Amino acid sequence: MDRFNDKVAVITGGASGIGLALAHGAIQRGAKVVIADIRVEPLTQALAELRDAGGDVLAVRTDVSKFEEVEALAQATVERFSKVNMMFNNAGVFASGLTWETSVEEYDWVIGVNLKSVINGIKAFVPRMIAQGDDCHVINTSSGAGITVNPGFSSYSMTKHGVVALSEALYLDLSAEQIDTIGVTIVMPGVVQSKIMFPEKTGPDTLQTELQGRLKNPTLKALEQFMRQSVDAGLPASALSDMVFEAIAKRDLYVLPNFTDEASQAQAQAIAMGRCSATNPYPPLLAGLLEAFKAAG
Ligand SMILES: NC(=O)c1ccc[n+]([C@@H]2O[C@H](COP(=O)([O-])OP(=O)(O)OC[C@H]3O[C@@H](n4cnc5c(N)ncnc54)[C@H](O)[C@@H]3O)[C@@H](O)[C@H]2O)c1
Repeated sequence: MDRFNDKVAVITGGASGIGLALAHGAIQRGAKVVIADIRVEPLTQALAELRDAGGDVLAVRTDVSKFEEVEALAQATVERFSKVNMMFNNAGVFASGLTWETSVEEYDWVIGVNLKSVINGIKAFVPRMIAQGDDCHVINTSSGAGITVNPGFSSYSMTKHGVVALSEALYLDLSAEQIDTIGVTIVMPGVVQSKIMFPEKTGPDTLQTELQGRLKNPTLKALEQFMRQSVDAGLPASALSDMVFEAIAKRDLYVLPNFTDEASQAQAQAIAMGRCSATNPYPPLLAGLLEAFKAAG
């Protein structure tokens, strides 16, 4: 897609952080925007902010983990704007936890918001894009955690790896079926300024005690302190948004903005090499990671 003017973009998790920045980026480029989010008040505020910025914007309260709600989002989009050109499957949550202590309910929640949501987005929007036959693009927000794994990241890394594989599968299936009107881009940020480190804001009531209790573990507390400091000092969401629109225009499959430093690249490469050569890469990586967590504590 080389021109965004008059295109229609749907952005999940559009009330905050990266999603809100993508919505601003879309209207600045002349696109019409639908923002979807589970939280009503931030969604209403974001709608007002985007309209003040001159956007033609619709807001639809949506729980992306539920297919019927994502299907209703697609219907609302087409009813209002008659078409859809860009689907940003962006909503997501991060909550640290030990692999064996995280409850089945918390795993279900994170899998629903981070991974099943992308399946829902593809199933609700791609058939409509195929039927339209014009220039379209699916943009899925994974993470650097889609190619690396850190201690405490079990539900997050697992789901973000899933988003990378699912998006690559979408790209390959479209190519094999010779559907060249739809591009695919996978966004894999390291750290970007946002509210991602506050999972309590959208966690179900039944998980609030577990979410608040996670920081009693010293390793998880140190990890989250490290992550909060990194996110606060991270890439501005507007800068990431610019990179994403550039990637869509160029039809790049990957956006990997924070992996330009040597340490991140070495970690990602060691893990990838370990997987294809059956060599455990983690013992040399772990000491450095734990040291970084403790230094932040
Ligand atoms: N910020 C970072 O450093 C970073 C790094 C890598 C990947 N990401 C990914 O970026 C995406 C956007 O996150 P962010 O950093 O802007 O965080 P954020 O918390 O600021 O925004 C996420 C939005 O998703 C919404 N949301 C949560 N559950 C939902 C649900 N079930 N249905 C609909 N909306 C829901 C939230 O209400 C929130 O507005 C996520 O997928 C996240 O995993 C963020």
